[in-house]
Amino acid sequence: MSLLEVEDVVVRFGGVTAVDHAGFTAEAGRITGLIGPNGAGKTTCFNVITGLQKPNHGTVRFDGRAITRLPVHRRSRRGMGRTFQRLEAFGSLTVRDNVRVARDIHRGIAGLVRPVGTDVDGLLERVGIAAYADERADSIPTGVARLLELARCLAGQPKLLLLDEPSSGLDESETQAFGELLAELAAEGRGIVMVEHDMELVMSVCDDLHVLDFGKVIASGPPAVIRADPAVQKAYLGYADESDDTQVLEAIS
Ligand SMILES: Nc1ncnc2c1ncn2[C@@H]1O[C@H](COP(=O)(O)OP(=O)(O)OP(=O)(O)O)[C@@H](O)[C@H]1O
Ligand SMILES: [Mg+2]
Repeated sequence: MSLLEVEDVVVRFGGVTAVDHAGFTAEAGRITGLIGPNGAGKTTCFNVITGLQKPNHGTVRFDGRAITRLPVHRRSRRGMGRTFQRLEAFGSLTVRDNVRVARDIHRGIAGLVRPVGTDVDGLLERVGIAAYADERADSIPTGVARLLELARCLAGQPKLLLLDEPSSGLDESETQAFGELLAELAAEGRGIVMVEHDMELVMSVCDDLHVLDFGKVIASGPPAVIRADPAVQKAYLGYADESDDTQVLEAIS
């Protein structure tokens, strides 16, 4: 049984079919990448998984139970955490207080069911932003804000993390450190699903990949297989033959 199972999901916005009978899974202890061109439906899939978007059709299962109709906070209580493509931290609070608030919200949501005893400063240390603990969130560089977003998510001690473009705004060395951190977080047993345009990061840290194109999953498999898949090359490049890995990487990064 997979930690997350998305089955035959359809989302329509008026005449636009944003997600078109998409199905994929994500496992505990592994990093799963959800990739695809702009507008492919990746964020909409995240919204369906986390409960922000009601699907027109299909099922989402988390930890063996159907959650398709559960509200956001009940999914969160069961151990689902996410970050947003657009940064969501409270600008007027310090970095430390942002994580504290996230922890307390989770405490409130979890109630007595799942007490959350996160050590806030330990968490800032862990994601590498302890030096910014007393800075206001609206005064920190984007790279730090991305890591703050991750810390806020981890404050709820999720079993599954859904990260929407977590490396945008990180420089090369920050991205590498970020990849190592994700690998550690997965090795501790968490499931991680990541939407990401940085193909170097995706290919180096993901264990499994699902490729979306016009709302459909056109390929699923390990990075090495996905890279060589003609349907993936066609979706990104507009033609199927004679394209090598380098071209694909250039085209989709
Ligand atoms: N609330 C909405 N109302 C109408 N159309 C929407 C809405 N949200 C998304 N769409 C459309 O659905 C499609 C999928 O969008 P989505 O944001 O899921 O793509 P994405 O893969 O996350 O893209 P990106 O890589 O640019 O973030 C796009 O055509 C988008 O314009
Ligand atoms: Mg998106």
